[in-house]
Amino acid sequence: MPITTCVFDAYGTLFDVNAAAAQAASEPDHAALAAVWPALARDWRSKQLQYTWLRAVADQHCDFWQVTQDGLDWAMEAQGLSDDATRARLLELYWELAAYPEVPAMLQALKARGLATAILSNGSPAMLDGAVSSAGIGDVLDAVLSVEDVGVFKPHVRVYDMVCQRFGCAPEEVLFVSSNGWDAAGAAGYGFQTVWVNRGGKPKDRLYAAPDSILPDLTTIPELV
Ligand code: LAC
Repeated sequence: MPITTCVFDAYGTLFDVNAAAAQAASEPDHAALAAVWPALARDWRSKQLQYTWLRAVADQHCDFWQVTQDGLDWAMEAQGLSDDATRARLLELYWELAAYPEVPAMLQALKARGLATAILSNGSPAMLDGAVSSAGIGDVLDAVLSVEDVGVFKPHVRVYDMVCQRFGCAPEEVLFVSSNGWDAAGAAGYGFQTVWVNRGGKPKDRLYAAPDSILPDLTTIPELV
């Protein structure tokens, strides 16, 4: 079945989640980050995601902004950091994460081919609004879908269901793109055609479904459809 709809994960896929720690570490007021920001960024992301999965299986949903703060608090404590101004700056930067450089042209190419485009993300509607506006990609997205509408995080099937409900399409018509191996697996298990964007050359996740394609970045997505 031909692809009619391209759906993207947000954090780590369209937006660079390490950009907040890298930016704050370059600012004189947050010099304590200079030596530790890569480890801080890794722990922050890792704890943020772990908390989403644990809250989903425990039926203890909160929004993504809460787990983003909770993950940062864990990561700062692990690095012996307790500066409130640094915490506030890191969180502020999370609302204006840079998009990867190829993102605007890639989305424009999909729209030029007549495809529907969307974000499907754990992010809260307000967080996603901030990231989409600061990246200037709102006009090449037909929908920005947040898990807040179903009250559970990925990879719950209720989240992937949102795409078919919004676009009135079958799962096989959707190309789902994520840099998170577990999200690509969840989407593949749901029945979407999937791409795992493996920027970091990581091993494949051993899960219940596998992506159809693996790409190093988003540049060639329009060639797949
Ligand atoms: C998201 C997270 C998983 O945007 O990156 O849904």
